[in-house]
Amino acid sequence: MDDAIRLNRFLARCGLGSRRGCEDLIRAGRVSVNGTVTCDLSVKVLAHEDVVTVDGEPVNLPDDAITIMLHKPSGYVTTMSDPQGRPCVASLVPVDEHPSLFPVGRLDFDTTGLLLFTTDGKLGHALLHPRHHVKKTYYAIVDGAPSVEDLDSLREGILLDDGMTQPAEVELLEGRSREEALALMGAPKVGRINDTVSLVRIAIREGKKRQVKRMLSAIGHPVIALHRPSFGPLLLGDLPRGSWRVLTEEESALLREAMDGEDGPRG
Ligand code: URA
Repeated sequence: MDDAIRLNRFLARCGLGSRRGCEDLIRAGRVSVNGTVTCDLSVKVLAHEDVVTVDGEPVNLPDDAITIMLHKPSGYVTTMSDPQGRPCVASLVPVDEHPSLFPVGRLDFDTTGLLLFTTDGKLGHALLHPRHHVKKTYYAIVDGAPSVEDLDSLREGILLDDGMTQPAEVELLEGRSREEALALMGAPKVGRINDTVSLVRIAIREGKKRQVKRMLSAIGHPVIALHRPSFGPLLLGDLPRGSWRVLTEEESALLREAMDGEDGPRG
C-alpha cells in the first residue's frame, strides 16, 4: 500500500544523504530505476516495488518502522497539513526523513503533552482501536472545585451527547501532587492558579472527540488547560515542549504489551 515518492526523497530515506545531495546523484547519472539510468528529478518510485540502484548497487529503505513521541505545544493542530494555514504538528516531527509518519490519535489545538507518531500503520491503527483500551492520562485545570459527587459521576460514566462514557479514573490533585502536575504542565497561563481553579487527573481508555473537556464541562467544571503526561505505559518525562524523540526498544515493547492488558506508566 505504498505511495509513490520522489526519487531524491526515496534515496534520502535510504540514508544516501540530504534530498539536495541525492538530486546531485540523480543529475550525475548514477541512479537507475528498474534497470534504466534516470537523470530526471521528477521521477517517482514505489519504495517496496521499484528496484533502485546507485552506481549499480541496490538501495533499500531501512525496514525498521519508527515510532516517536512529541511534546505537543499549545497552538498546533494535529494534522499533517492544514488548509486554513494554522501551525501543524507535522512541522515539529521529522517528516522529511520519514514521510509516512502519522499521528496516533489527536490532541486539541490548545492541548499540550504526549502525542505519538508512527510509520507503522498497523501499530497506529491498533493503538486507536477501542478493543485495545489503551489508557490515556490527562491533567486538567478546571474552573471551580468539583465535589466528591461530581468526581464520582465521572468514575461511574457520564452521559454525553454521543452516549455514555466508560468509567474513568479521576483524582483531585492537591498539595504536592498538584504542584508537581502544574510543573509538568509548564505552569500554563490561567491567570491566578489558586482556589478558584482545581487540578484534576483523569485517565480514560476511549477516544471520543474532545472527550475530557466534554466530561468536565458536563459536571459544571470547564477545562481551562489540558495536558497529557502519559499514553499507555509511556511517560513524557522531561522531554522539552516542541521536541520529539524515538521510543526506546523497551518502550516499544511495553506499548505492544499495553494493547493486551495492563498499561499504567511504570515507575
Ligand atoms: N480530550 C479533550 O477534550 N481534548 C484533548 O485534546 C484530548 C482529550
